[in-house]
Amino acid sequence: MTGIDATAMRTDLCGRLGRGDAGRTVTVCGWVDRRREHSEHLAFVDLRDHSGVLQCVVDGARDLRSEYVVRITGTVRPRPEGTANPALATGEVELQDCEVELLSRAQPPPFPLDERTEVDETLRLRHRYVDLRKPRMQHNLRARAAVNGAIRRAMDAQGFVEVETPMLIASTPEGARDFVVPSRKEPGSFYALPQSPQIFKQLTMVGGVDRYYQIARCLRDEDLRADRQFEFSQLDVEASFVTRDDVLGFVTRAVAEATIEVTGHDPGTFDRMTWHDAMERFGSDKPDTRFGMELAELTPIFAETQARVFQAPCVKGICLTGGAESLPRSRVDELVATCQRWGAKGLAWMRVVAAPDISGSDLDGGVAKFLSAAEAAGVIEALDARPGDMVFLVADKRPVVRHVLGLLRLELGRPPVNDGSLNYLWVVDFPLFEGLSAEGEPIPSHHPFTMPHEYDLPALMDADGPPSGEALLDIRSQAYDLVLNGWELGSGSVRIHRREVQQRIFEVLGIAAGEAQERFGFLLDAFRYGAPPHAGFAVGLDRLAALLVGEENIREVIAFPKTQSGTDPLTDAPSPIADTHLQELGLRVLPPA
Ligand code: AMO
Ligand code: AMP
Repeated sequence: MTGIDATAMRTDLCGRLGRGDAGRTVTVCGWVDRRREHSEHLAFVDLRDHSGVLQCVVDGARDLRSEYVVRITGTVRPRPEGTANPALATGEVELQDCEVELLSRAQPPPFPLDERTEVDETLRLRHRYVDLRKPRMQHNLRARAAVNGAIRRAMDAQGFVEVETPMLIASTPEGARDFVVPSRKEPGSFYALPQSPQIFKQLTMVGGVDRYYQIARCLRDEDLRADRQFEFSQLDVEASFVTRDDVLGFVTRAVAEATIEVTGHDPGTFDRMTWHDAMERFGSDKPDTRFGMELAELTPIFAETQARVFQAPCVKGICLTGGAESLPRSRVDELVATCQRWGAKGLAWMRVVAAPDISGSDLDGGVAKFLSAAEAAGVIEALDARPGDMVFLVADKRPVVRHVLGLLRLELGRPPVNDGSLNYLWVVDFPLFEGLSAEGEPIPSHHPFTMPHEYDLPALMDADGPPSGEALLDIRSQAYDLVLNGWELGSGSVRIHRREVQQRIFEVLGIAAGEAQERFGFLLDAFRYGAPPHAGFAVGLDRLAALLVGEENIREVIAFPKTQSGTDPLTDAPSPIADTHLQELGLRVLPPA
């Protein structure tokens, strides 16, 4: 009998054999997972391949050590009464009368391959080829491939064309540092590696492709974190003659089908929230909506307050259910210090108690003594607080209050990454600028090709000049993000396809006409030749795959990732290159500063 798993060397995969195969003579290949002595003449060898583990009864005299690669032919039989192993998929059977062929010897592995032993990250990556044999890594890589497959099918079905864009390009505008590649033919000149295919995908729209997608590799020189690597992959999408909602629809379908493929569950329609609501209610543009603890607006309650602490443009609070009992004083002091590190002047806290009498306040401890009875009642009502809860208030400028309480909310309430829920959320109507730089220049929230919101476009295009300073921050854009469990999964926007709007944006950003021409001239030139209205999106596939398999670090779904410090212990990259090579490239290395 031969199934799809059969090759010229084997008939079956280890993990697929079961009771139904009893009596068959099969050949399996793999690594020795474990060897136990059975009797003087016989040993149990657990043979592992990517599909699982199979117990084989072999001649005890054979020298078979951990991670040796072998080929075993034997007969499948049900395990004797009472010896089945329910923890193993193949636990009801074993292979007997085994003939063993040794294919490769192996040094002892650099670390145990079980899931329980904590292994140093550098050691794991140094021997990634061994690490990848672990069932968890096999599962993750296969889940990731399933994500890519489902996405390709969904995009194809929606009429998108996969187009490859170049890796050696001029700089892109995503706002991180470029990795650069020196040119041998033009010493002193450099290519940049793409931070994303942004400009090229827009050029495909001018080129009439209509619906573009690519599973694109992107490279950004930035500080690495659990959700950030130098190299990562995007589902990159762009479409012509569409609105924002069309794009949200395309991406929702692709992401939903990837989710179904990996988890078996249809996530249904994704919720939507404006950026403004996300910031006001969750203090974040990527709210983790798996739990409540929303930020309550308390500013009106303190409009006339005598308490100095709360005489501020904005006061908000959150409530930790049961916090009066669960948080020891030392922890509260820690939280105050943490909020100060996050930028608050302080953190006001109070315990909610059952009112001692009709005139007494329901708040106790901390700053409670500074509040009037009406203020205390107002806080309790706005936060829906109950006796036994703890409330936390921050008073400051609105952006500071939102930022600090947003982080405190996560600190106090965030469920673990792999709690089994997947809360997809579209955040729409981002502001066009996320703030002003120290020099007063606006910083784009997305990239400079993002179309302003249609309602705010007239103000921006005003013949007397655009608004300036803080007034710019009120201008909304047609940019949107996809959020999953508090992670930014992707970003996109409706693009500017009109030259005069693009020029106005460059002007506002302080990018002079000459500089704009130098950096993005080829895009501006292309727009002279008939640019369709277009919009797009990019989903971070490493992040999507990680969350779908419940991993907290995207390294776990990347076959060969970099360490936190950006090195590859396996190949020793980055490493110096020979002087002759430098010379050929016209480069000289300066001594470290
Ligand atoms: P943006 O820069 O927001 O948008 O990137 C889109 C998504 O890519 C993922 N991502 C990363 N994943 C891992 N490591 C990184 N260093 C990293 N950086 C980004 C995130 C992010 O949400 N061209 C635009 C999209 C567009 O406008 O169409 C872009 O790249 O999940
Ligand atoms: P102070 O009057 O500075 O001693 O602060 C009294 C309490 O109020 C301390 O617990 C501070 O952490 C807190 N606090 C001070 N400033 C603020 C603020 N702007 N917002 C919230 N709490 C504050």
